[in-house]
Amino acid sequence: MIETYRPRRSVLYVPASNDKALAKTSSLACDAVIIDLEDAVAPADKVAAREKLAGIFAKRPVANHNGRRCEMIVRINPLASEWGADDLLAALRSEPDAILLPKVDTPRDVLGAGDVLDDNFAPDEVKLWAMIETPKALLNIGPIAELGRDPASRLVCFVAGTNDLVKETGVLATPDRRYLTPWLMQMVLAARAGGLDLLDGVFNEFRDLDGFARECTEAAAMGFDGKSLIHPAQIDAANRAFAPSAEAVAEARSVKEAFALAENAGRQVIALNGKMVERLHLAQAEKLLAKAAAIGA
Ligand code: COA
Ligand code: MG
Repeated sequence: MIETYRPRRSVLYVPASNDKALAKTSSLACDAVIIDLEDAVAPADKVAAREKLAGIFAKRPVANHNGRRCEMIVRINPLASEWGADDLLAALRSEPDAILLPKVDTPRDVLGAGDVLDDNFAPDEVKLWAMIETPKALLNIGPIAELGRDPASRLVCFVAGTNDLVKETGVLATPDRRYLTPWLMQMVLAARAGGLDLLDGVFNEFRDLDGFARECTEAAAMGFDGKSLIHPAQIDAANRAFAPSAEAVAEARSVKEAFALAENAGRQVIALNGKMVERLHLAQAEKLLAKAAAIGA
């Protein structure tokens, strides 16, 4: 069976305190938006930003301009902060697609938020996403990811918080991300082990679209499902980079057609254009074609 694919190629942060940016979101082609109450909102604006959630979700668009429903996520402040608990209650009342937990350190942080959702009768459809942005989260990443195997935990997605990781560890942020890459790859492995989606961190130089496109191509090759974004100008490149390429779609079709031939019916391994192709490649091809169909690629 092929699992349903939900595109999360382009996931845009929108500060809940920025009315101009909020007004723009319904016209954008991103797969998801994260209404941010955390790092994009100044302490003095936190309470006012939280109070805007109900209004933002009341105006929630049914579909974006691709005719697809854009996921809406709320990023709350850490539960240990003075705002976190009230943020979580306000967020769950808006019934977002997910609530994004920042500064997660341990599985307990995810389970604790899930308990609050359960205690307040949040529908099962309200999921949890977790920022992976602290040294502790990286040390505990296996057990955190494992929660993805239990639907009751609500955990479905990891988001790399690369700016916080740089801040917390003291590594140098270089254009090629050489010091971050081992940790990013650890996130990929953990996310796959837990059956979670995984989004790459943001690219701060939002006027440098070439650099951004390069980082997206790299992130797609590393196995990320999409990228978290800070500016609308980054949406198109992310949508392209995390969609299957035309060549990959053509190749997947040829694998599927080859296995559909009567002469290959009972065969586990075949030769196709000088290459060994196994049934596992057929499964991979079918997954890729389902993904391409879902995003209209
Ligand atoms: N979401 C929606 N719209 C956005 C946006 C965002 N994240 N960032 C910018 N826009 C809008 C602007 O409001 C502006 O709208 P207009 O055409 O109606 O005037 C348009 O896009 C062009 O914006 P621009 O002038 O190029 O950028 P800016 O100087 O207004 O904003 C940032 C630059 C970085 C401050 C802004 O993009 C931002 O706040 N991004 C999100 C930051 C964030 O959430 N960080 C936390 C997670 S890391
Ligand atoms: Mg952060």
